[in-house]
Amino acid sequence: MKDFTGKVAFITGGASGAGLGQAKVFSAAGMKVVIADIRQDHLDEAVAYFKKDKKAQVHAIKLDITDRAAFAKAADETEKVFGSPPQLLLNTAGVNAFGPAEASTFEDYDWIIGVCLGGVINGMVTFVPRMIKAGKGGYIVTVSSMGGLMGGPTTAPYSAAKAAVINLMETYFTALKPYGIGVSCLCPAGIKTNIGESSYTRPKALAATGYNTNEKTIAFMRHHYSFGIDPVELAKILKKGIEDEVLFILPFPEPEKMMRNLVERMVNYTTAEGMKRQAEIEAKRQEERQKHPMPGLEGALEAGWGNARPDLTWVKKSQRFSRKK
Ligand SMILES: NC(=O)c1ccc[n+]([C@@H]2O[C@H](COP(=O)([O-])OP(=O)(O)OC[C@H]3O[C@@H](n4cnc5c(N)ncnc54)[C@H](O)[C@@H]3O)[C@@H](O)[C@H]2O)c1
Repeated sequence: MKDFTGKVAFITGGASGAGLGQAKVFSAAGMKVVIADIRQDHLDEAVAYFKKDKKAQVHAIKLDITDRAAFAKAADETEKVFGSPPQLLLNTAGVNAFGPAEASTFEDYDWIIGVCLGGVINGMVTFVPRMIKAGKGGYIVTVSSMGGLMGGPTTAPYSAAKAAVINLMETYFTALKPYGIGVSCLCPAGIKTNIGESSYTRPKALAATGYNTNEKTIAFMRHHYSFGIDPVELAKILKKGIEDEVLFILPFPEPEKMMRNLVERMVNYTTAEGMKRQAEIEAKRQEERQKHPMPGLEGALEAGWGNARPDLTWVKKSQRFSRKK
């Protein structure tokens, strides 16, 4: 997709972070943009921002992407306000929480997978038939993560959901080709956003977490994500990826090299010799990380980020994120 002018975009999570960056970039490209978000305060701030630009056509909808009936209503509202289903659907909303895999509760899985995978499925089932029936072609992007390309000891529900959407987008990429609908999956690393505040929208019914989440860990996450890529810069890379119709958009200088390393890891995991090779690679990487810690991780230990809920005393300390000290 190369021409965006006058077309309709629907962005989940469009009122903050990566989604807001997308709203800014695609609105500047002449699109009519719907921003759908669960947080009213984020929507209010975003609407106030776009009001300053007289040419921007931005419509805000309060939506919980895990609510299918509400999603259908949001789709109806989009057609009513902008006269068409979206030609660009951006499944961007997501949440995260980190802690030892073995401490994860059903509620940790239900919440994170419910939003990061279930919300994407709801977006696809709601909009794909409408986009096909409209017969205008279009484009769909889901925001995954580097976390979806590798599993980590403290990222179980998040990585599982993000891996699933990578696979799902490859499926839709092939399935939607005959309809002139392109599909991509964006896999960023750190982005400068409000994702550290994810627990603020966690439903009460799914509050029982096995992770250590409190104001200290949230403050640490705000600090950590402040080192990420600027959301507008990321959205510009995304726009180029859409123009080039690249399936997996890796927003890094050498995406092919990066993917080759990731695939190499999987290859190594298939034989005994490879397992040894991979263990050596990991040990070297760990050594490098000790020598040159990643910026933004300072304060993680003190905040207890990535730890289990304190009363889960059976969780081995060595399994906790803090072992990286
Ligand atoms: N921040 C990062 O470092 C990073 C890295 C890789 C991938 N991502 C992904 O980027 C996407 C956007 O996140 P972000 O970093 O911009 O965070 P963000 O918190 O700034 O923005 C996400 C928005 O989604 C909304 N949201 C959360 N749950 C929702 C729901 N159930 N229904 C509707 N809206 C909901 C939030 O209210 C928020 O406004 C997510 O899918 C995230 O997993 C983020």
